[in-house]
Amino acid sequence: MAAVRQPRRFLNVPYGAWHARELPAPDPLLTRTDPGTPCGEYLRRFWQPVAFVRELGDVPRRIRIMGEDLVVFRDRSGRVGLLQLHCTHRGTSLEFGIPQERGIRCCYHGWVFDVDGRILETPGEPSDSTLRQRLCQGAYPTHEFCGLVFAYMGPPEHRPVFPMYDTFDVPGLRLHPAARFELPCNWLQVKDNAMDPVHTSFLHALSSGYHFTEAFGALAELEWQETPYGMIYIATRRVGDFVWVRVCDFMAPNVHQFTREIEQAIAERIGARPVVIRWAVPVDDTRTVNFELAQIDPAWGLTAEQIARPGFGQSPDRAYEERQRHPGDYDAQSSQRTIAVHDLEHLAATDRGVIMLRKIVRDGVRAVESGETPRGVVMKPGDTVTTYCQDTVLRVPPTSSSEDDRAQLRQTGRRVVAGEYRAP
Ligand code: FES
Ligand SMILES: [Fe+2]
Repeated sequence: MAAVRQPRRFLNVPYGAWHARELPAPDPLLTRTDPGTPCGEYLRRFWQPVAFVRELGDVPRRIRIMGEDLVVFRDRSGRVGLLQLHCTHRGTSLEFGIPQERGIRCCYHGWVFDVDGRILETPGEPSDSTLRQRLCQGAYPTHEFCGLVFAYMGPPEHRPVFPMYDTFDVPGLRLHPAARFELPCNWLQVKDNAMDPVHTSFLHALSSGYHFTEAFGALAELEWQETPYGMIYIATRRVGDFVWVRVCDFMAPNVHQFTREIEQAIAERIGARPVVIRWAVPVDDTRTVNFELAQIDPAWGLTAEQIARPGFGQSPDRAYEERQRHPGDYDAQSSQRTIAVHDLEHLAATDRGVIMLRKIVRDGVRAVESGETPRGVVMKPGDTVTTYCQDTVLRVPPTSSSEDDRAQLRQTGRRVVAGEYRAP
């Protein structure tokens, strides 16, 4: 376990704001993601979602990912291209380009670029011009999966295989493209939230009003464990005669998955996996876009539009005063400053998951810097990544002492993760 970082100043006098006005800089190692920054190069070693397929119409789409301006488009033969935004000829934005049978034509002088950046035509140039054999537009490889377009923006020689999480295929459920929503803050504080389960009892129940089920209002016994791909949290709650174990995964560097917030803990259930898988991708250092895939039970009868809607409080779609009265994740995360300042935090016992997550990211950044492969990169084709995310509810009557009960809860959580309970 990493040592708790000591805050720069531990203010311990009342009416002490005058002593605590200093605003240190955010940690550049973990929060800067532009090309060439240590964390930016780390994040680029993984496939990152950049757009939903549903967002690709018959005109190109301008996007910004980790400080890079890009254009994503589908050509008329159905292939997806991700090119640097500005035409290599004289810089016109390819958001005004015209998708062709093969590639995209720049509007200004008609040069045509294939999805891999090769120049196919330079129509205004002399017929003996060899420019197109000698020059390329910058392009990144893409991969379509379940209605999402992923890109690999790292060094070509380190391109990993696309990671197949075991939760992409869950019996009885169907994986769908789901929500996209943007937060006006740094990517890391968005991801910190993934391993901060205590907030599900407060932000989502006790302090903001119940956003989901009442079961979230029960305080959980919390544990965190490392995994080959990142880490998990185990949140185990007593709800009457039942014990509800909720396990969520963090897959380095910026993915997490959680169970849809529908568990009421009123009946036994083993290993239910109605997961939502969420990537938090930096637009730049002060904006983050979340892309989700979700496992949906066909019996819920949800339309594609309902599935694509962000969950309660994930986006700024409510009036300001309503958000003040019932704040959600969007409000909690984006108000930790535009880029959260770690030197001003006072991390406590329930922040152990946040500390572990940041250590995984820091270790990954260092690994890439020293030429090693960071944790979570999948290099072997055909490998499936085993994850733990689930809701398990067991009938376990309470013990007589609350201390014994808490120990029993922790033990039950560990046993669920160890796979000791099987569905009948
Ligand atoms: S600027 Fe694109 S073809 Fe000239
Ligand atoms: Fe939350």
